[in-house]
Amino acid sequence: MDDREQRVQMVERQIAARGVRDPRVLEALRDVPRHLFVPEDQKPHAYEDRALPIASGQTISQPYIVAIMTELLAPDPDHDVLEIGTGSGYQTAILSRLAKHVVTIERHPQLALTAEQVFSALGLMNVDIRVGDGTEGLPAEAPFDRILVTAGPTYEDIDPVRYVGNRSSGRMGVALAEAARRRGAAVTLVLGPGSVAAPDGIEVVRVRSAAEMHAAVMQALPGQDVVAMAAAVADYTPAAPVAQKITKSDGPLTLTLTRTKDILADLGASRDGAAHPVLVGFAAETADAVARGRRKLDAKRVDLVVANDVTQPGAGFEHDTNAVTIITRDRDVAVPLQSKAAVADRILDLVVPLLGARA
Ligand code: CTP
Repeated sequence: MDDREQRVQMVERQIAARGVRDPRVLEALRDVPRHLFVPEDQKPHAYEDRALPIASGQTISQPYIVAIMTELLAPDPDHDVLEIGTGSGYQTAILSRLAKHVVTIERHPQLALTAEQVFSALGLMNVDIRVGDGTEGLPAEAPFDRILVTAGPTYEDIDPVRYVGNRSSGRMGVALAEAARRRGAAVTLVLGPGSVAAPDGIEVVRVRSAAEMHAAVMQALPGQDVVAMAAAVADYTPAAPVAQKITKSDGPLTLTLTRTKDILADLGASRDGAAHPVLVGFAAETADAVARGRRKLDAKRVDLVVANDVTQPGAGFEHDTNAVTIITRDRDVAVPLQSKAAVADRILDLVVPLLGARA
């Protein structure tokens, strides 16, 4: 019996017979030559219904265990998978058939070397193997677990039919939330009124006013690794909103506004020396964006400010593109006009080393 035939039987008797149904998983198990992942003296047993010893005192799991774990993981062709513990590399090779990219971490250098040789013999182009302690995850790729993002304007009610608002669309904040989601973070999005639709897979808290946004941020704060305030929060709110619609008279109407609480500055002050969370602010300006952004970084005691000149063509409110300068304590990084999704990724790229520095 050739080795393909042995795998067809293995799938039928050990795997399909026990209820694994996903056709992509079954096909991957028929395709991947398991015997290449076991030591020479174990090759006659490669397709048996059991785990086998490999080098460094480890084992290659029973085929059924590999199949059921893969089915439960349900990798998609657009997924990046992080595997902790390469071992023989057999599970890695199965995942590489089903996902876009697999990063696998192995603590025994000898096992990593052997697995890498098999991957290259099989021509697996979408696998990266690292030697290291997988319990640390992959900090360079997914260094934060939780991020809180605010987006959109706030509306400050004057009476039941009128409000003071601003032109923020929420797109930059939503792009940031989606970029973090793509990197595997748990995202909470505090979203102002009248802004873009809430994305899938993200916990959304809807708010209206600056006061509501303040309360929502403070409530969601515990456990956050990063807070990014992309919302255009009103700086002023009507001093005395009224319950009945204001009717007009012939003379002028004077509206008295009072200051709202600055959410970001409160976060900067209350963090005072603590390691977490990393704080990101935004500064939408019409002149001297970088200098003003840097002043906000200092005044609000935050780690990074994304400054943009909203008068530039294609940048700022109601556009799908943006051009910004990302300001950190030690440098300014100019990000030329590009999609808000790409700008969001550049922001997160610069948040990553700050997490490392503060941890
Ligand atoms: N911000 C906040 N709470 C407020 C106001 C603003 O958290 N009540 C945050 C915004 O989300 C943004 C940053 O602070 O991240 C903007 O800074 P801010 O000084 O408010 O900018 P402007 O409103 O443009 O203020 P200024 O008139 O001082 O330029």
